[in-house]
Amino acid sequence: MQAVRGMNDILPDAVHWWQKVETTARQVLELYGYREIRTPIVEKLELFARSIGESTDIVEKEMYAFPDRKGQWLALRPEATASVVRAFIEHNLQADPSVRKFYTIGPMFRHERPQKGRYRQFHQIDAEVFGIDDPLLDAEVMAMLCDFLQRIGLKDIGLHVNSLGCSKCRPLFRDDLKAFLQDRASQLCPDCDRRRHVNPLRVFDCKVDRCREALTEAPELGRYLCEACRRHFDKVLHYLSHLHVPYAVDPRMVRGLDYYMRTTFEVITDRLGAQNAVGGGGRYDGLMRDLGGPDLPGIGFAIGMERVILLLQQEESLDFKKPDVFIAILGEKPVTEAFRLAQDLRGQGVAVELAHGGGSLKSQMRRADKLGASYVVIVGEEELAKGRVTVRHMAAKEQTEIALENVVTFLAAHGTSKNT
Ligand code: HAM
Repeated sequence: MQAVRGMNDILPDAVHWWQKVETTARQVLELYGYREIRTPIVEKLELFARSIGESTDIVEKEMYAFPDRKGQWLALRPEATASVVRAFIEHNLQADPSVRKFYTIGPMFRHERPQKGRYRQFHQIDAEVFGIDDPLLDAEVMAMLCDFLQRIGLKDIGLHVNSLGCSKCRPLFRDDLKAFLQDRASQLCPDCDRRRHVNPLRVFDCKVDRCREALTEAPELGRYLCEACRRHFDKVLHYLSHLHVPYAVDPRMVRGLDYYMRTTFEVITDRLGAQNAVGGGGRYDGLMRDLGGPDLPGIGFAIGMERVILLLQQEESLDFKKPDVFIAILGEKPVTEAFRLAQDLRGQGVAVELAHGGGSLKSQMRRADKLGASYVVIVGEEELAKGRVTVRHMAAKEQTEIALENVVTFLAAHGTSKNT
C-alpha cells in the first residue's frame, strides 16, 4: 500500500524542520497578539464556493468535494480563511472585542498536479484579522510575515504588493479588461477564453505562454483605483517604507481567490522553480457580510509550510535532537539500576537512551556513537557492586568512574548543555 499521490508522510528525519517552523511561527504570531483557533478539516462545500468563488481554479478544479452518507456536499478545506470567518460568525466572536486576531496551522487539500513545492495535501500557517480597516494594519500584517521569514532564516524573499480596488472601482477595470480580451480572444487558451466571460481577472493567473503574451499590454488595475482605494494603498506603501520593509508593487498580481479587495500581497522566491509563492494574502472586507455575518473588514495571509521547509533545507542542515546520555548495561543484574538511573536523569531534564537488549560493550558503544549521545554511562556488575559507574565523554574520548549517587548531579550539570 502506498500513500495517496501528492500526500506526503513527514518522517522523523524531517519532522524537526516542521517543529522549528511551527515554533517560530507561534512565537512571532503571539508577539503580534494573534490567538490560535482550530477549525475542522471538512466543511460544507458551499462555504468554499461562496467565499473563494465559483469560477476560481480552486473551486472549479481542485477541491476534494464529496457527498456524505446523507447526500450533503462536503469538501476538504483548500484553505483556512473561509473556515475562520465561518467560525467567527457562528460563535459570535464579535462579542469579545479583545479577540480580533487569529491564527491556525494545519493541512489543506487541493487536487493540483503534484510537483516540487506543490502537493495535494499541504500545510499552511494562516493568520486572519477582523474588524480593522486601517491601512496601518495591512502594513503590520506584511511586516509580521517578513519578520517571521527573517527569524526562520530565509533570505532573498521578495514582497510583492498590489491593490485590487473595491466594488466601486474594480467593475470599471473589469469592463475594460473584458473589451481588451475580446480583441485578443483568438490568442487565448480555451480556459482563458471561458474565463474572460465569467471572471476575467483570473486570466492573469494563467501560466500558458500565449496568454501571458496576450496580456503584456492589458490595462493595469492600479490606474482604475478610486480615490479611497488609492489613498488606502498609498498609506500602506508609506508605512511599509517607513518600517523599512522592502517591497515591489506588482500591478499584475491578482491572487487566485475571489474574496480579495484592496491590498493583496505575495512573498516570492526564485529558488523553488515554478512554485515561487512562499505565502500570500490580502484584504477581504465584505466577505464576512457575504457569508451572513457582521459587516466587518478582514485581512490575512497564509504561508506554505512545505515551501518554507524546502527553502530552509537549501540553506542549512538542522540536526535532530540527540540523546544527552546513553546508558550501556553490562550483564543482567544492573538492568533495574540502569533503568532507575535513566528515570532519575530524565526527571532532571536529561535526554536518555537506554540500551535495550544488551550486547557487547563494543556494540553498545557503537550504537551510542551512531545516536550522537554526548555521554555514555556504563553500568557494569562489578563496578555497581562498589557503588560506582563509568561516565564517558564521547567527544573528548575521556572516561572516569563516578559514585552512583553523584551521577545525576554530574550529568544534569554537564550533560544537557548542547540541548539548552
Ligand atoms: P494561497 O495563495 O492560495 O492563499 O495559498 C497560500 C500559500 O499556500 C501559497 O503561497 C503556497 O505557499 C501555499 N500553497 C498553496 N497551494 C499549495 C500546494 N498545492 N502545495 C503546496 N503549497 C501550497 C490562501 O490560501 C489564502 N487563504 C491566504 C489568505 C489568508 N488570504 C487571506 N487570509
